[in-house]
Amino acid sequence: MNRFEDRNVLLTGAGSGIGRATVVRLLSEGATVFAVDRDAAGLAETCGLAGDTGRFVAHVADLAEEEAVVSAAAAAVAALGRVDVLVNVAGVLRVTPMDSLRLDDYREIFAINVFAPVLLCREVLPHVPDRTGVVVNVTSTAATKAHPWMTGYAASKGALLSFSISLAAELSERRIRVVPVSPGGIATPLTANKETYAGIDTSWYARTYPLWGRPGRPENVAGTIAFAASADGAYLNGVEIRVDGGSHS
Ligand SMILES: NC(=O)c1ccc[n+]([C@@H]2O[C@H](COP(=O)([O-])OP(=O)(O)OC[C@H]3O[C@@H](n4cnc5c(N)ncnc54)[C@H](O)[C@@H]3O)[C@@H](O)[C@H]2O)c1
Repeated sequence: MNRFEDRNVLLTGAGSGIGRATVVRLLSEGATVFAVDRDAAGLAETCGLAGDTGRFVAHVADLAEEEAVVSAAAAAVAALGRVDVLVNVAGVLRVTPMDSLRLDDYREIFAINVFAPVLLCREVLPHVPDRTGVVVNVTSTAATKAHPWMTGYAASKGALLSFSISLAAELSERRIRVVPVSPGGIATPLTANKETYAGIDTSWYARTYPLWGRPGRPENVAGTIAFAASADGAYLNGVEIRVDGGSHS
């Protein structure tokens, strides 16, 4: 399949997990990808995995900073000229009991999980073509299903989901689609990092894998993002796609 030939993609969170798998998938389908992450080594690893396509541009930026988001968007537009697809994947998870969560924790989580994609939309949408442009925002099942000890994370993903649904309506005039994609448990460094779970019993989380009895793989989400962003998803707009092996039911 070459669904992304002549399609320019700006993707964040490209240095690991779901973002990396999505870069590899989109490149394999002909896309040119401007890949952003704060982790330079992770980006280099993604580049190595993607092979020598000549269609990969790496950009290192900490998207928690507004100036860095604005610069990344400008660099993407300078490199690509036109951004056909914007995929916001970068995100952070904090697992903390609510009563020990500091306001700064919330600010940190919201800076990357909400404000970065919002700002990137603002900066990039003027360069997204009417009728064929697509925005995919990676949210989470935490947006709509209880995730104890992840209240800040859940609130941020809920905000991104709501933002995406309303943005879809706002952009309908330009016929630009917005699709929120919500993974359930996926095996990536985000969920494997035991420090994230310090002192918290997260055994409940393991019960959220009804389909396979184990988390999904980044490639499972990458395939869904590719579908949503391609012409195959042409009538998908403002609707959340859950990639969770049935954990929501
Ligand atoms: N893994 C899961 O189970 C799961 C479930 C639901 C939603 N998600 C969402 O999927 C997305 C990807 O998660 P993942 O599991 O691949 O995690 P990951 O940790 O493997 O990858 C996240 C990437 O985002 C980058 N990033 C984080 N903060 C950044 C910043 N300030 N500036 C630039 N880059 C930054 C990291 O460097 C990393 O490369 C996240 O938004 C996450 O919330 C993941």
